[in-house]
Amino acid sequence: MLTFKELALFLHVLFACIWVGGMLALVFVVAPVLRGLKNREELFLTLGRRLSFYGTFLSLGGLFITGLINIHYLLGFSQLLDLSNPYTKTLWNKLFAFFCVVGVSLAHDLYFGKRAYERRFNLYMARFLGFLNLILSLLVVFFAIKLRLGG
Ligand code: HEM
Repeated sequence: MLTFKELALFLHVLFACIWVGGMLALVFVVAPVLRGLKNREELFLTLGRRLSFYGTFLSLGGLFITGLINIHYLLGFSQLLDLSNPYTKTLWNKLFAFFCVVGVSLAHDLYFGKRAYERRFNLYMARFLGFLNLILSLLVVFFAIKLRLGG
């Protein structure tokens, strides 16, 4: 039978797939195709809005909620301040990287991405923040793997 603990971890991994998979698909498949099209600016903005809803708000929100449930079942909130435990230290590193991802995503989606075609600077910032977010997200996945191996 599927337990609540398993369901939470399953949803956590699913949200991680949507978040990281969505970014990789955008970088390697969608963006190179769109760049060759005439109405690419309009397409990028429409796609960005949709990806922002499913990626930033749904997936990152879902990752945070299911992540808290994982902490409850796999560690216990009372252990969060015990920094002599390598698992806890890695978890804080993961949380720090996660909040950087949230900050970068908000700046990207709500400011620079929306205004990318108004000024050249905004376009460069949108590209830079998108790339930075991919690197930070891969770092979060690396921390998740470290946690799996005990911290
Ligand atoms: C971009 C955001 C995130 C990504 C991509 C991500 C990815 C993952 C993945 C792939 C796993 C499965 C590892 C495994 O058990 O084999 C995992 C586990 C876990 N995640 Fe996350 N995660 C994210 C955010 C968070 C947040 C915000 C929290 C806490 C609030 C969190 C807490 C945990 C915990 C406690 C585990 C269980 C680790 C273990 O196996 O002991 N994650 N995460």
